[in-house]
Amino acid sequence: VNLFLRVGAVRPDGYHDLLSVFQTVSLCDELHLLPRKEEIRVVCRPPEVPREENLCLLAARRLQAVAGVGPGVEIRLEKAIPSQAGLGGGSADAAATLLGLNRLWGLQLSRETLAEAALSVGSDVPYFLQGGAALVSGRGELVRPLAYAPGLEFVIARPPGGIATAEAYAQLDRLRQAAGRVACPGPGPLLLALAKGDRAEIARRLHNDFSQVVAQMNPDIMTLKEEMLASGCLGAEVCGSGSAVFGIAASAAQAAETSKRLAARWPWATAASSVGRGVQFFFSTDTEQADD
Ligand code: C5P
Repeated sequence: VNLFLRVGAVRPDGYHDLLSVFQTVSLCDELHLLPRKEEIRVVCRPPEVPREENLCLLAARRLQAVAGVGPGVEIRLEKAIPSQAGLGGGSADAAATLLGLNRLWGLQLSRETLAEAALSVGSDVPYFLQGGAALVSGRGELVRPLAYAPGLEFVIARPPGGIATAEAYAQLDRLRQAAGRVACPGPGPLLLALAKGDRAEIARRLHNDFSQVVAQMNPDIMTLKEEMLASGCLGAEVCGSGSAVFGIAASAAQAAETSKRLAARWPWATAASSVGRGVQFFFSTDTEQADD
């Protein structure tokens, strides 16, 4: 989730400069990497999520190209993070693919080389190589960890319908052309609140430049925010460029209770906690091999 997200001007390369505070949460997908002789294959469950599948495939191919090696892999991807929700699930899966294959293929590529490969897959992928709380700028490749961020409890929910990131950026550009320069807060007060561990102040300082434009694209976003606040959340904001919304809960119990209530009314809702890292590895002694 983005506790703060400011979108700058369009750059000559067509991307926008960002200034954002990213925070990893406990909601996660699972990837199983099985050695194969040559072919790279992605199998996805549930099967109807082609974008994540493609980002894993793209990440694996990029790594093969960078390393100049030819081993294969079967990637079994079990999705829990909804697509087109602004939660960065596809980017997280791509980062996990890069880190996992670096180990599986014994490449020993440096963090810098992995970060370059990550950026070539997507703007948010470099961040997910490390995760945790971070101040992210540039196109997404400048990642400065915030070591002092406190633990936070979240409710995250999604309305019907997703939002394509490129479309949200295009709409934001159109809105800005029509409205002229718009004042936007800096991240200073939020960073101070994070450093103090003041959860109520963090919740008050949430900001996302996409908020207005994506609420026009999908009015349910505003309803979801209001429901979270009415349920006792300290603050609520859009996840990335939407369509999911997160609330900062007053406690883990409130997060669980609110997510249960929201799940009854909306297509998807969950409770989640902040976590201090991105990808977590589990090594299996299982000798299961993909069929070659
Ligand atoms: O890098 P990624 O493929 O995830 O970006 C998807 C789209 O989001 C881009 O094609 C671009 O339209 C927009 N984008 C942007 N500026 C960024 C990141 C993404 O304009 N910093």
